Amino acid sequence: MITKCLFPAAGYGTRFLPATKAMPKEMLPVLTKPLIQYGVEEAMEAGCNVMSVITGRGKRAITDHFDISYELEHQIEGSSKEALLGGIRNIIDKCTFTYTRQNEMKGLGDAIYKGKVLVGEQDPFAVILADDLCVNPEGDGILKQMVELYNKYKCCIVATMEVPLEEVHKYGVIEGNMIEDDVYMVSNMVEKPDNDKAPTNLAVIGRYILTPDIFKVIEKTKPGKNGELQITDALCTQAKKGMVIAYKFKGKRFDCGSVDGFVEATNYFYDLEKEQ
Ligand code: UTP
Repeated sequence: MITKCLFPAAGYGTRFLPATKAMPKEMLPVLTKPLIQYGVEEAMEAGCNVMSVITGRGKRAITDHFDISYELEHQIEGSSKEALLGGIRNIIDKCTFTYTRQNEMKGLGDAIYKGKVLVGEQDPFAVILADDLCVNPEGDGILKQMVELYNKYKCCIVATMEVPLEEVHKYGVIEGNMIEDDVYMVSNMVEKPDNDKAPTNLAVIGRYILTPDIFKVIEKTKPGKNGELQITDALCTQAKKGMVIAYKFKGKRFDCGSVDGFVEATNYFYDLEKEQ
């Protein structure tokens, strides 16, 4: 059973300045819901109830969001607006939230390593990057699909999608053999390769299931691309031992870390809401 989900959320979100000067990127709303709440809901659907967030300076709004707001709730009690807090109230009732800070932004691998004190070294855990907003209008959410795959293969799982070759330099990219429909045994991983040097156009997006031995591997991993400790490099070590599966998920992913992707997500959810 995977019950823990880690949310690395220590990045500065510079692409959204000035909005992110004093507000975490993860709290930017797509319609009325902050990005990180979409992520938490996806994790709950997949069976998680312990949400661990890696925060940094200026990220207190995340902690407050997943807590009761007595004054506000008292104020709107009995009014039609009470329903607007139903979703977040359900999350607070059903989940436990834990937090730690990444004091310096040293890369996603380092952020995940900081999560060791929160998720422990016994159990596999999920990782969601909330700025990748994922939905599957046709069925199970992306993380739930990955948990099913984990139950079969019991190793690290990364979510992947095909991207245009001219965009591979923005992603970690995998190389591997297809072992069943949409499932690859990964043999190599490269972080943000030059477009003409990428082994494939299969990009890793912000959903992972990691086995706890990843922490020992991260300890031995040296800083990579841009001088940051890259989770791609740690996973590549595991992949060389046949311990990483890549899954071409069913659904849509919006890159809400970029303005274009954020606007696209907003339009998508707005159209969806209008249809209902
Ligand atoms: P990004 O590089 O896309 O996010 O990291 P960013 O740095 O916040 O955004 P820009 O590029 O300045 O606009 C991907 C995810 O990994 C987390 C970020 O919070 C984001 O969710 N991350 C990255 C960390 O938590 N710590 C790090 O050291 C690096």
